[in-house]
Amino acid sequence: MEHVDWAYGLAKELLETTLPRRWAHTQGVAERASSLTPLLREEADTLIAAALLHDIGYAPDLVDTGMHQLDGARYLRDVASADRRLCRLVAYHSCADNEARQRDLFDVLAKEFDQEAPDLARALTYCDMTTSPDGRHVDVTDRLAEIHSRYGPEHVVSRSITDATPCIVSSVRSVEAALSDVRQADVG
Ligand SMILES: [Fe+2]
Repeated sequence: MEHVDWAYGLAKELLETTLPRRWAHTQGVAERASSLTPLLREEADTLIAAALLHDIGYAPDLVDTGMHQLDGARYLRDVASADRRLCRLVAYHSCADNEARQRDLFDVLAKEFDQEAPDLARALTYCDMTTSPDGRHVDVTDRLAEIHSRYGPEHVVSRSITDATPCIVSSVRSVEAALSDVRQADVG
């Protein structure tokens, strides 16, 4: 729980007042992460902490490149001295390599941060991409449609999400399948 309590305090401080809806989303993503505990077992705390921190790059004081995944990961590494795995998960969350390419920041991202273990990266993508902006649990298709309508077709985020859709959907569906296997095993 050490990482989780620390991450909760940091994310709350950065988001609650300036970006209350983002804070509501963040708490919903963390709830999703908790729901994966049967799947991740001892890795669950790392995922919950990453879920709490994944969007801190939107905090006005942290914005630098405008790519919130990179800005958040740099803050965690350089200012907060966070665990390296948390920095990596935040840097690449929800298939962010696609947005990095759209913003011409892929070389920067890849030079500064390694990718985290695929299971954990997919799990964080599942949590983020099945949680609405106000923190409700939604299907990934509704989540993707909402992002497109919020940003509009020309925005770099919409273009990035279009590129990332196969990665996002396959991550979500693989986590859902694994969760259902675990639940069936518990019942059986
Ligand atoms: Fe998010």
